[in-house]
Amino acid sequence: MWWFGGLLSVCAANALSEDYMARIDPSLRSWLRSVRLSEDVLLQLEVHQGKLRAFQDHEQLALEEEEVAQLRSVFPSDAFAPEALLSPIGPEAWDAKRQQFGKHGLDANIFPDCAVNNENHLERTTVAVFNQLKSSHLGVVVTVGGLYGHRHGEGEDVLDDPAIELLLEMQRLRTPALRALCLGCEEEQVASLTRARSLQEVFRLEALEETSLRSALPDISLPKDFIGPIDLLRLDALPHGSSCQVLRSLLLKVQPRLVAMFVFSQVPPPFEFIPHSQSVETPPALMACSLSAAMQVLAPHNIFLIHLTGPYALFVHREEWHQALPIDEMDCYRKSSAWGMQDIPIDFVREWFFEDVDKVLPRIWSNISSLYVSGQGMFTLGLQAM
Ligand SMILES: *[C@@H]1O[C@H](CO)[C@@H](O)[C@H](O)[C@H]1NC(C)=O
Repeated sequence: MWWFGGLLSVCAANALSEDYMARIDPSLRSWLRSVRLSEDVLLQLEVHQGKLRAFQDHEQLALEEEEVAQLRSVFPSDAFAPEALLSPIGPEAWDAKRQQFGKHGLDANIFPDCAVNNENHLERTTVAVFNQLKSSHLGVVVTVGGLYGHRHGEGEDVLDDPAIELLLEMQRLRTPALRALCLGCEEEQVASLTRARSLQEVFRLEALEETSLRSALPDISLPKDFIGPIDLLRLDALPHGSSCQVLRSLLLKVQPRLVAMFVFSQVPPPFEFIPHSQSVETPPALMACSLSAAMQVLAPHNIFLIHLTGPYALFVHREEWHQALPIDEMDCYRKSSAWGMQDIPIDFVREWFFEDVDKVLPRIWSNISSLYVSGQGMFTLGLQAM
């Protein structure tokens, strides 16, 4: 073997942007890097559970200890952190948990590609799933709580908001009568979004009465031409963390083929967490209901999880999808990432997910309570009986 002298240059093609969220189970993750040693020697490196392997033209190379030591520097320290080395749960305990507490138990299928962890995750995935739906598209999008993205001409080529990207795709497909409703979006914001430039005529903005979102079933009125079947219902983080309430209310009026929504990923499945704010302020950290709570609202409408980044979940109507639904959300969540760890550290999230459900329920309860100013929260946290 050779000694890797000199500078190691890491190829730009590497997905370095993955690291802004934390994996729920880093022991399942592989870190991949390409290293060019000379003009014609390109190595592919992989770290999985702390072990580094190198490949050249798909052939694994035998590495000396010093070479391993040197190549380790190409990877972030996360790749060798203790939690990346060991599985947090044994296979039997995991299967038992999945089957007992997964929302759909033994009926659920494992969908290996469910978790989406890279940058531009949700927008790319939303368009990809949309293009595989069975029925033909309608050209109608309803989005609630704002849009995100680069503004004022910046980020022309960077995919941004899933609603915007889907509308651009439908524009590309020359969908007639394309229309989008943005509830609770600011005019200035929509007007300044770089990627939404060609969509200004398409957007209709309506105010969202913030106080009405404190209700268990907010009264949200929709213009007539947005009632009925739509392509996408998209919910961002909403005031008072009212996403499940808004979802429940809107599903009385629209029948979406796809739902993309922000979920509070620090409360793992199978826990159904919903903040309520009739008489208290919901702490800013509690931006939405949990994945399991959202699934509970959607399942009666025949809408099921298909992709999860962690903070965002994408759901599809069963009749639109070519694979068997429901899929196993426990498996999917385990492979996804959490975001927003200031208030609830990732170690807590992992413990709540992998440990005994009965033991951790009171811990989640008191952690969430402690985020409220008064220490007295107003939320529901529970488990759906199978
Ligand atoms: C919060 O959760 C962690 C992890 O389960 C636990 O160790 C801690 O005691 C909890 N804190 C409170 C205030 O219950």
